[in-house]
This record gives sequence, structure tokens and C-alpha cells, in this order.
Amino acid sequence: MIKVPAAVVVCTVALVVCYAYQSGPLVAILVCVSAHLATQVISAARTKPYPPGPRGWPVLGNLLQIPQDSPWLTYSAWADTYGEVVHLKALSDHLVILNTAQAAKDLLDGRSTIYSDRPGSVMTELSGFGIEMPMLSYNDQWRRQRKIFVQSFNSGMMPGYHRIQEHEARKLVQGILRRPETLVSQTKTRIAAIIMRVTYGYTVKGEDDPMITVPFAAMENFGTATEPGTWIVDFIPQLQYLPRWVPRASFLRIAEEYRQLEHKASWSPYLWCKEKVVCIAFLATHGIDADGVHGAQQEGSEEPCLVASALSQFEGDMNNEDEAALVWAASSGLGGGLDTNMSTIFTFLLAMMRNPHIQAKAQAEIYEVVGTECLPSITDRPSLPYVRSVIAEVFRWYPATPLGLPHAVRQDDVYKNYLLPKSSIVIPNVWRMLHDPCVYPQPDEFRPERFENSDSEMRKVTDLVFGFGRRSCPGSQFAESSIFAIVATILATCNIVPKLDEQGQPIVPPMEYTNGVIV
Ligand code: HEM
Repeated sequence: MIKVPAAVVVCTVALVVCYAYQSGPLVAILVCVSAHLATQVISAARTKPYPPGPRGWPVLGNLLQIPQDSPWLTYSAWADTYGEVVHLKALSDHLVILNTAQAAKDLLDGRSTIYSDRPGSVMTELSGFGIEMPMLSYNDQWRRQRKIFVQSFNSGMMPGYHRIQEHEARKLVQGILRRPETLVSQTKTRIAAIIMRVTYGYTVKGEDDPMITVPFAAMENFGTATEPGTWIVDFIPQLQYLPRWVPRASFLRIAEEYRQLEHKASWSPYLWCKEKVVCIAFLATHGIDADGVHGAQQEGSEEPCLVASALSQFEGDMNNEDEAALVWAASSGLGGGLDTNMSTIFTFLLAMMRNPHIQAKAQAEIYEVVGTECLPSITDRPSLPYVRSVIAEVFRWYPATPLGLPHAVRQDDVYKNYLLPKSSIVIPNVWRMLHDPCVYPQPDEFRPERFENSDSEMRKVTDLVFGFGRRSCPGSQFAESSIFAIVATILATCNIVPKLDEQGQPIVPPMEYTNGVIV
């Protein structure tokens, strides 16, 4: 941060003293000296160099050098040339890439009061996604949503969710064993089912249940709306004010469609839960036993769920702002948790397919600790260090968000004598941090043994993959137990092997990320 030197403070105090004693000419001189010193301080900060980075073009800057595919690999190569903090310019935007855990912790954790914003995007706002917690600026709306969310996802609440997570993990395995070809859609459905149960108390009816298919469609729209470089309105914000009939303003129509679907995806499950809560409260106040009277709506009512708990805290005294905060906080769960969990589970399956000896070792640990008569539960986690190491290595090997989520800095800042200008988009290159050969030798190898069963070494990985500072993932503990339930249940009941081709040769799928923020 810019430090104001003592000289300025002394001059300012002198100025105040002179003013108090009404010594006019002296005041004038001091004003001039103070102003000159202050200008020097500010310009000294501004004339500090930006961090190093590849040379760009006039006006465009590095715009054409920023890769669309796997940008973390290019950024990591730049880290070798330019160091731990790399600066890029794309038109008028500054981008700062943080390539080491230390730099990310110094800035995003240590200076989180100024590094907790998100970069804005006009298309994201027009499409109605800017109102959800992960996209919100660091403001009161974000604070309100985050508070609601954390009340249901803090460590004390976790044991209450174990039964749901284990139940859905078992349903997933049953489904995969019955129809292995539907692995992807079933994994998606069951992960969504866990989140829907703990958020809304809603039991997903199946893959075609609109209560999840509508949010899935909205999430696809989110991916398109937030894709950098796709929408001209993100470069020329004034275009948002065009009338809709203007020929090249189709983005306005698309944004409106996205907004409507997002609204439906977020409000429908909320209203379902609200109706259930109101109904149960009505029956209770009239002394009617809810069981049996309202069988369908009672399902899952013994389990904790975010929306019902928040509604009961408001006790009917909720204004429109409170209600909107609750709706958007709740819908952030599926947005934040679905693709990240899926990516992690698929990386796990690929890792096991490619490393049968590691799979066998993890299975042996489960058989030894849990036996073969029952399935592992989440409470077995402390007794299964090798399974925990496998999961930590999955997070390290192919993290679900290799560039985290971008932060934005609120004001000019100086780090290691470099200027990080106000509004810079700050990108933690988590991929590089977890593939730095000095920290993780042979980083491309999947080797759970590298942690030597040490939880503090595993924690160093999860501290990075779940993000930083005040914006770090509020669903991390929940995610870790969901993933443990699924991984341990699969290991205990299945052998993960590749499909065979017509010649009987294994077809091992390539390790390939999809594109986007979550890959
Ligand atoms: C493997 C699973 C997961 C991974 C790797 C992951 C990772 C992340 C990351 C990197 C961020 C951004 C942190 C930052 O800005 O520095 C984030 C934010 C967030 N995550 Fe997760 N997440 C996972 C699961 C979940 C789950 C299960 C939920 C909900 C139940 C969730 C809800 C959220 C929310 C609401 C935010 C936005 C927080 C904010 O902007 O204040 N995540 N997550």
C-alpha cells in the first residue's frame, strides 16, 4: 500500500497549527510545500513500474497474446521468464497473474480488504448473473448473501449433512453399476441432488426433474455469458443502451433470455421450499400433526436445509431485499458446487484408471479399516489417510479451477516495488502453484505418496484450490465431505477400469480439460 511519508504528516500538522494561530504567509508557504510533497508521493507511486510481462502492441497491449485454450499453461511458461507476478494489458484492462502461493497469500489473503472485488462484465450483469454471490462486488449485498450461506455451510453444520451425502453416493454407485454408460449424467444428477437437499430440502426425482434441468441450462448460459472476449458489449459498454431492434444488438435479446431462465432457476426451488415451510408452520399452529396430512411435502423435513433455516430465522419478518438475498445466496450453491465437484470426481476416475496400483492400495486401506461387510462412512475419514491423500492429489493434479476465480483490486497498490494499478484483474495461477517442480517434484505424476500421509501437506493443496481471502470457497468443507463420500463408496464397491476396444485393448481417455473457469 502507498505509505505517506512522515514529511507530509509533519507539514500537515504544521499547517493546522499555523492556521490556528492565523499566520497567513507561513500558511501559504506550507500549503505549497505540502502540495508539492503530496504530488511527489503520488507520482512516485504511479511511476513505479508495473510487474514484468510479455511486450505488447500499442493500444491492444497483450490482448492477442492471451490464449483462449488452457491459459494457465501459457501463464506458467511466462512465470519461468518473468517471475512470480506477471503484468499484462488488454486494451485498457490491467491483468496481474500471481504464480506463487506466497504472492497469492500476501495479496489476496493478507490485503483482502482491497483485493476482494470481482472484475465486472457488462454481459454478466445484463444476463442477471451479476447478482449472485460469486460474481458480486465486495459490497453489502455480497456480505448479506455470504452471511446467509455460511450459516448453513460452517463446520458445525457438516455432520447434519453426512447422511444425505452418503445416501446419494450410494445411489450413484447403484446407478453406475446398473447403467455404466450413463456415468456422466448420473454423477451430475447425484451431485445436484446433494446440493438441492441441503439447500432447499428438495429430493430430486430423476435426471429429467425440471428442478435441476432448468438450473443446468442456466449454468450453461452462465458459461457463455461470462466467456472472456465473446461479447462486444464487454469491450464497448455503451452498446448496452442500444434499442433492441438495432440489427447487431442481438446480445440484448440473448441477455434477456438468459436473465429470465436464471430467474426461474433460482426462484422455483426457493418458492417450493417456502411453501413447504409455511404449510408446516400453519399445521403446527393449528395443532395438526403434519405427518400423513402432507406426506409429499414433508419429505426431508427432518434434515437441515439452508432456505428453511433462514426463513425460520426471519420468522416471517422479511423484506424484499432480505428475500432476494436469500434466493440468490441459495442458488449460488448449485452454481458453485456442481461443476467443481463433477470435475474433481472425473479427475479421480481417470487417475484410478491410469494408476491401478494406487486404486488397489486405496481399496486395501478401506477393506482393512472398514471391512467388507459395510460401506465406508464420512466418519471413517480420519482413519483412511491414503484415501485422503488420493483426494488431495486429485485436487493438486488437475484442480477444478486452475486459475481460481479472478479477484479485482480496489485501489493502486505496491507489491515488491511494483505498481498494481487500481481495478486490475488479479488471477491466481493455482495450476502453476500446484505444478511448480520445486514444490512438487515430477508434478505431472499422480503420486499420493508425496504427502507422506501428512494432513498439513494436504492442507497446503486445499488452501490453494478453494481460493483466497474473504472470497475463499464457503462450500469447501461440504465439498470435501461430498467428494470423500463418493470416492470412498466407489473404491469400496467398484473396480475402475477403461473400456476395451474391439481388439480387447483398453481405451484410456486422455487427460483433457474442458474450457472455461471451471474445467
Ligand atoms: C471441488 C469442489 C470445489 C472447488 C474446487 C471450489 C472452488 C472455489 C473457488 C476457487 C472459489 C473462488 C474463491 C476465490 O475467489 O478466491 C469458490 C467460490 C465459491 N464456491 Fe466453491 N468450490 C467447490 C465446491 C463448492 C460447493 C460444494 C459449494 C456450495 C455448496 C461452493 C460454493 C461457492 C460459492 C458460493 C463461492 C463464491 C464465494 C464468494 O465469491 O464469496 N463451492 N469455490
